[in-house]
Amino acid sequence: MTMATHEIRMTVNGAPHQLRVESRLLLVHLLRENLRLTGTHIGCDTTHCGACTVLLDGEPVKSCTVLAVQADGAEIATVEGLEQNGKLHPIQEAFWDKHGLQCGYCTPGMMMTGYALLARDKQPSETDIREAISGNLCRCTGYSNIVKAIQSAAERLRQQ
Ligand code: FES
Ligand code: FES
Repeated sequence: MTMATHEIRMTVNGAPHQLRVESRLLLVHLLRENLRLTGTHIGCDTTHCGACTVLLDGEPVKSCTVLAVQADGAEIATVEGLEQNGKLHPIQEAFWDKHGLQCGYCTPGMMMTGYALLARDKQPSETDIREAISGNLCRCTGYSNIVKAIQSAAERLRQQ
């Protein structure tokens, strides 16, 4: 049986892409396998862990739960797009400084969720941060340093 394929276009971290994909291809697999952007992790494949979080037109989505064809025409941002001209984004610096990670598996998703939160709220409360990351699971840190990292990133961004 031949699988239906579709021509789709999307921008990923500012770069335009045109791809022919199977109907069933998930966005996370397109990013990791077709585009080799392996910073987006797969932790569960069942919409639980948030390791696969990317931004779709600015909104955080779990890319294991989005079909590639649903992203046709969209702007996608992944963790690889945070660094600009060799300089880490403030949210990356903050995770580094505040030790917001241990194994690092959840970190790309945490940073993309934090990035989206700070894009809409420059001064989130601790509760706002904890609510924002409630769909992102971390098995290592106990979350405290992740919350501190996002608070620190908010401060850095306010000073820019
Ligand atoms: S891999 Fe997508 S939510 Fe876990
Ligand atoms: S740092 Fe290990 S899962 Fe979060």
